[in-house]
Amino acid sequence: MATIQTNVAQSDLVEDAVEPSEIARRVSEMGEWFHNIDLKGVPTAPDHFLGDFPRVKWKSIAPVLPADLQGASVLDIGCNAGFYSVELKRRGAGRVLGVDVDDRYLAQARFVSKVLNLDIEFAKCSVYDVDQIPGEFDYVLFMGVFYHLRYPLFALDKVIKKVQGHLIFQTMIRGSVESPKLKEDYHFWNKEIFDDPDFPRMYFIEKSYAGDPTNWWIPNHGAMEAMLRSSGLAIESHPEVET
Ligand SMILES: C[S@@+](CC[C@H](N)C(=O)[O-])C[C@H]1O[C@@H](n2cnc3c(N)ncnc32)[C@H](O)[C@@H]1O
Repeated sequence: MATIQTNVAQSDLVEDAVEPSEIARRVSEMGEWFHNIDLKGVPTAPDHFLGDFPRVKWKSIAPVLPADLQGASVLDIGCNAGFYSVELKRRGAGRVLGVDVDDRYLAQARFVSKVLNLDIEFAKCSVYDVDQIPGEFDYVLFMGVFYHLRYPLFALDKVIKKVQGHLIFQTMIRGSVESPKLKEDYHFWNKEIFDDPDFPRMYFIEKSYAGDPTNWWIPNHGAMEAMLRSSGLAIESHPEVET
Protein backbone atom coordinates (compact mmCIF):
# COMPACT_ATOMS: atom_id res chain seq x y z
CA MET A 1 0.00 0.00 0.00
CA ALA A 2 1.56 3.26 -1.09
CA THR A 3 1.70 6.23 1.23
CA ILE A 4 2.28 8.73 -1.54
CA GLN A 5 0.30 11.91 -1.05
CA THR A 6 0.32 14.71 -3.56
CA ASN A 7 1.63 18.17 -2.80
CA VAL A 8 -0.57 20.14 -0.46
CA ALA A 9 -1.47 23.56 -1.83
CA GLN A 10 0.26 25.94 0.55
CA SER A 11 0.35 29.15 -1.43
CA ASP A 12 -1.08 31.03 1.54
CA LEU A 13 1.63 29.59 3.78
CA VAL A 14 4.27 32.08 2.73
CA GLU A 15 2.53 34.88 0.94
CA ASP A 16 3.31 37.27 3.76
CA ALA A 17 6.58 35.58 4.73
CA VAL A 18 8.83 37.94 2.85
CA GLU A 19 10.29 39.96 5.69
CA PRO A 20 13.18 38.32 7.59
CA SER A 21 11.37 38.81 10.90
CA GLU A 22 8.29 37.02 9.54
CA ILE A 23 10.42 34.23 8.04
CA ALA A 24 12.19 33.81 11.39
CA ARG A 25 8.85 33.63 13.18
CA ARG A 26 7.56 30.94 10.79
CA VAL A 27 10.83 29.00 11.03
CA SER A 28 10.63 28.82 14.81
CA GLU A 29 6.93 27.97 14.62
CA MET A 30 7.71 24.91 12.48
CA GLY A 31 9.58 23.10 15.25
CA GLU A 32 13.12 21.83 15.31
CA TRP A 33 14.96 21.80 11.97
CA PHE A 34 17.56 19.23 10.92
CA HIS A 35 18.62 21.12 7.80
CA ASN A 36 20.26 24.49 8.12
CA ILE A 37 19.04 26.44 5.11
CA ASP A 38 19.59 30.12 4.46
CA LEU A 39 16.13 31.63 3.98
CA LYS A 40 16.87 35.14 2.78
CA GLY A 41 19.37 35.62 5.60
CA VAL A 42 17.47 33.58 8.18
CA PRO A 43 19.24 30.28 9.09
CA THR A 44 16.83 27.46 9.91
CA ALA A 45 19.17 25.42 12.16
CA PRO A 46 22.09 27.64 13.19
CA ASP A 47 22.91 25.53 16.27
CA HIS A 48 23.06 22.13 14.53
CA PHE A 49 25.32 19.68 16.41
CA LEU A 50 27.11 18.83 13.13
CA GLY A 51 27.83 22.45 12.29
CA ASP A 52 26.45 24.07 9.14
CA PHE A 53 24.62 20.90 8.17
CA PRO A 54 24.29 19.59 5.51
CA ARG A 55 26.33 22.27 3.74
CA VAL A 56 29.46 20.75 5.28
CA LYS A 57 28.65 17.53 3.39
CA TRP A 58 27.44 19.30 0.25
CA LYS A 59 30.84 21.02 -0.10
CA SER A 60 32.40 17.59 -0.82
CA ILE A 61 29.55 16.22 -2.89
CA ALA A 62 28.82 19.29 -5.03
CA PRO A 63 32.00 19.07 -7.16
CA VAL A 64 31.22 15.54 -8.42
CA LEU A 65 27.83 16.61 -9.81
CA PRO A 66 27.47 18.57 -13.06
CA ALA A 67 27.27 22.31 -12.42
CA ASP A 68 24.51 22.40 -15.03
CA LEU A 69 21.74 19.87 -14.47
CA GLN A 70 19.54 21.43 -17.15
CA GLY A 71 16.28 19.48 -17.33
CA ALA A 72 17.50 16.49 -15.30
CA SER A 73 14.93 14.74 -13.12
CA VAL A 74 15.71 14.29 -9.44
CA LEU A 75 14.20 12.12 -6.71
CA ASP A 76 15.33 13.03 -3.19
CA ILE A 77 14.39 10.17 -0.82
CA GLY A 78 14.21 11.21 2.83
CA CYS A 79 14.44 14.81 1.68
CA ASN A 80 13.95 16.32 5.14
CA ALA A 81 13.63 20.12 4.77
CA GLY A 82 14.87 19.90 1.19
CA PHE A 83 18.44 21.20 1.33
CA TYR A 84 19.64 18.88 -1.46
CA SER A 85 16.46 19.30 -3.53
CA VAL A 86 17.04 23.04 -3.41
CA GLU A 87 20.70 22.77 -4.43
CA LEU A 88 19.92 20.51 -7.42
CA LYS A 89 17.03 22.72 -8.51
CA ARG A 90 19.40 25.70 -8.36
CA ARG A 91 21.65 23.81 -10.79
CA GLY A 92 18.84 23.80 -13.32
CA ALA A 93 17.24 20.40 -12.69
CA GLY A 94 13.80 19.96 -14.25
CA ARG A 95 11.44 17.92 -12.14
CA VAL A 96 12.61 17.66 -8.54
CA LEU A 97 10.55 15.44 -6.25
CA GLY A 98 11.40 15.18 -2.56
CA VAL A 99 9.76 12.47 -0.46
CA ASP A 100 9.79 11.85 3.26
CA VAL A 101 7.64 10.16 5.89
CA ASP A 102 7.70 13.03 8.36
CA ASP A 103 4.96 15.65 8.05
CA ARG A 104 6.93 18.28 9.96
CA TYR A 105 9.92 17.98 7.66
CA LEU A 106 7.66 18.02 4.60
CA ALA A 107 5.99 21.21 5.85
CA GLN A 108 9.44 22.75 6.35
CA ALA A 109 10.49 21.68 2.84
CA ARG A 110 7.40 23.23 1.28
CA PHE A 111 8.00 26.44 3.21
CA VAL A 112 11.63 26.53 2.04
CA SER A 113 10.74 26.07 -1.62
CA LYS A 114 8.08 28.77 -1.42
CA VAL A 115 10.34 31.30 0.29
CA LEU A 116 13.11 30.60 -2.21
CA ASN A 117 10.59 30.59 -5.06
CA LEU A 118 11.69 27.23 -6.42
CA ASP A 119 9.34 24.82 -8.17
CA ILE A 120 9.95 21.61 -6.21
CA GLU A 121 7.38 18.89 -5.49
CA PHE A 122 7.23 17.32 -2.06
CA ALA A 123 5.21 14.24 -1.21
CA LYS A 124 4.70 11.91 1.71
CA CYS A 125 6.11 8.55 0.73
CA SER A 126 8.18 5.94 2.50
CA VAL A 127 11.32 4.60 0.85
CA TYR A 128 9.59 1.22 0.97
CA ASP A 129 6.99 2.60 -1.47
CA VAL A 130 9.19 4.53 -3.91
CA ASP A 131 8.80 1.75 -6.48
CA GLN A 132 5.18 2.94 -6.81
CA ILE A 133 6.28 6.38 -8.02
CA PRO A 134 5.97 6.29 -11.81
CA GLY A 135 9.08 6.50 -13.97
CA GLU A 136 12.79 6.71 -13.32
CA PHE A 137 14.99 9.66 -12.42
CA ASP A 138 18.33 10.91 -13.73
CA TYR A 139 19.53 11.52 -10.18
CA VAL A 140 18.25 9.73 -7.10
CA LEU A 141 19.45 10.95 -3.72
CA PHE A 142 19.28 8.41 -0.90
CA MET A 143 21.18 10.16 1.82
CA GLY A 144 21.10 9.79 5.56
CA VAL A 145 18.22 7.29 5.49
CA PHE A 146 19.77 3.82 5.11
CA TYR A 147 20.81 3.38 8.76
CA HIS A 148 17.35 4.48 9.94
CA LEU A 149 15.77 1.42 8.34
CA ARG A 150 15.00 -1.99 9.83
CA TYR A 151 15.02 -3.44 6.30
CA PRO A 152 17.84 -1.58 4.57
CA LEU A 153 18.51 -3.94 1.63
CA PHE A 154 14.78 -4.31 0.94
CA ALA A 155 14.69 -0.52 0.67
CA LEU A 156 17.83 -0.32 -1.47
CA ASP A 157 16.36 -2.81 -3.94
CA LYS A 158 13.33 -0.52 -4.28
CA VAL A 159 15.46 2.61 -4.59
CA ILE A 160 17.52 1.28 -7.50
CA LYS A 161 14.33 0.71 -9.50
CA LYS A 162 14.02 4.50 -9.67
CA VAL A 163 17.59 5.13 -10.83
CA GLN A 164 17.97 5.90 -14.52
CA GLY A 165 21.33 7.61 -14.19
CA HIS A 166 23.06 8.10 -10.87
CA LEU A 167 22.39 7.29 -7.24
CA ILE A 168 23.90 9.60 -4.65
CA PHE A 169 24.05 7.43 -1.57
CA GLN A 170 25.14 8.36 1.92
CA THR A 171 25.01 6.46 5.17
CA MET A 172 26.45 6.82 8.62
CA ILE A 173 29.61 4.69 8.72
CA ARG A 174 31.10 3.12 11.83
CA GLY A 175 34.10 0.81 12.09
CA SER A 176 36.58 0.48 9.24
CA VAL A 177 36.66 3.12 6.54
CA GLU A 178 38.80 0.97 4.23
CA SER A 179 37.71 -0.74 1.00
CA PRO A 180 38.63 -4.40 1.47
CA LYS A 181 39.80 -6.66 -1.35
CA LEU A 182 37.19 -9.41 -1.37
CA LYS A 183 37.34 -12.89 -2.89
CA GLU A 184 34.57 -14.60 -4.85
CA ASP A 185 34.21 -17.28 -2.19
CA TYR A 186 35.57 -18.38 1.19
CA HIS A 187 35.93 -21.84 2.69
CA PHE A 188 33.38 -22.78 5.34
CA TRP A 189 36.19 -23.09 7.93
CA ASN A 190 37.71 -19.76 7.05
CA LYS A 191 36.64 -17.83 10.12
CA GLU A 192 39.51 -15.35 10.15
CA ILE A 193 37.79 -13.06 7.65
CA PHE A 194 35.21 -12.21 10.28
CA ASP A 195 37.94 -10.90 12.55
CA ASP A 196 39.17 -8.55 9.83
CA PRO A 197 37.69 -5.12 10.66
CA ASP A 198 37.67 -4.23 6.94
CA PHE A 199 35.46 -7.22 6.02
CA PRO A 200 31.91 -5.98 5.24
CA ARG A 201 29.89 -5.76 8.43
CA MET A 202 26.81 -4.04 9.78
CA TYR A 203 26.41 -3.04 13.40
CA PHE A 204 22.93 -3.70 14.75
CA ILE A 205 21.64 -1.21 17.32
CA GLU A 206 19.06 -2.86 19.53
CA LYS A 207 18.13 0.14 21.66
CA SER A 208 19.47 3.51 20.64
CA TYR A 209 22.55 5.21 19.21
CA ALA A 210 23.26 8.94 19.47
CA GLY A 211 20.02 9.27 21.41
CA ASP A 212 18.08 8.09 18.35
CA PRO A 213 16.15 4.81 18.57
CA THR A 214 15.63 4.88 14.77
CA ASN A 215 19.29 4.08 14.14
CA TRP A 216 19.13 0.35 13.34
CA TRP A 217 21.94 -0.86 11.07
CA ILE A 218 25.23 0.98 10.68
CA PRO A 219 27.62 -0.44 8.06
CA ASN A 220 31.36 -0.12 7.82
CA HIS A 221 32.75 1.24 4.56
CA GLY A 222 33.26 -2.21 3.05
CA ALA A 223 29.65 -3.22 3.72
CA MET A 224 28.34 0.01 2.21
CA GLU A 225 30.28 -0.67 -0.99
CA ALA A 226 29.41 -4.37 -1.09
CA MET A 227 25.68 -3.74 -0.65
CA LEU A 228 25.64 -1.12 -3.39
CA ARG A 229 27.45 -3.49 -5.76
CA SER A 230 25.20 -6.41 -4.89
CA SER A 231 22.18 -4.25 -5.75
CA GLY A 232 23.58 -3.93 -9.26
CA LEU A 233 25.30 -0.57 -8.97
CA ALA A 234 28.81 0.41 -10.01
CA ILE A 235 30.54 2.77 -7.59
CA GLU A 236 31.87 5.79 -9.47
CA SER A 237 33.39 7.86 -6.70
CA HIS A 238 33.51 8.62 -3.00
CA PRO A 239 33.30 12.39 -2.65
CA GLU A 240 33.60 11.77 1.09
CA VAL A 241 33.88 8.68 3.28
CA GLU A 242 30.15 8.23 3.90
CA THR A 243 29.03 8.98 0.33
C1 LIG B 1 19.15 11.94 8.94
S1 LIG B 1 17.82 12.59 8.02
C2 LIG B 1 18.62 12.82 6.43
C3 LIG B 1 17.99 13.92 5.65
C4 LIG B 1 18.66 14.23 4.30
N1 LIG B 1 18.42 13.20 3.32
C5 LIG B 1 20.13 14.46 4.50
O1 LIG B 1 20.93 13.66 4.03
O2 LIG B 1 20.49 15.46 5.12
C6 LIG B 1 16.80 11.19 7.74
C7 LIG B 1 15.53 11.51 6.98
O3 LIG B 1 14.95 10.29 6.52
C8 LIG B 1 13.57 10.34 6.75
N2 LIG B 1 13.09 8.97 6.81
C9 LIG B 1 13.19 8.10 7.85
N3 LIG B 1 12.61 6.93 7.53
C10 LIG B 1 12.17 7.06 6.25
C11 LIG B 1 11.47 6.19 5.36
N4 LIG B 1 11.12 4.97 5.72
N5 LIG B 1 11.17 6.65 4.14
C12 LIG B 1 11.51 7.91 3.76
N6 LIG B 1 12.16 8.77 4.57
C13 LIG B 1 12.48 8.36 5.79
C14 LIG B 1 13.43 11.14 8.03
O4 LIG B 1 12.13 11.65 8.20
C15 LIG B 1 14.47 12.21 7.82
O5 LIG B 1 13.98 13.32 7.14
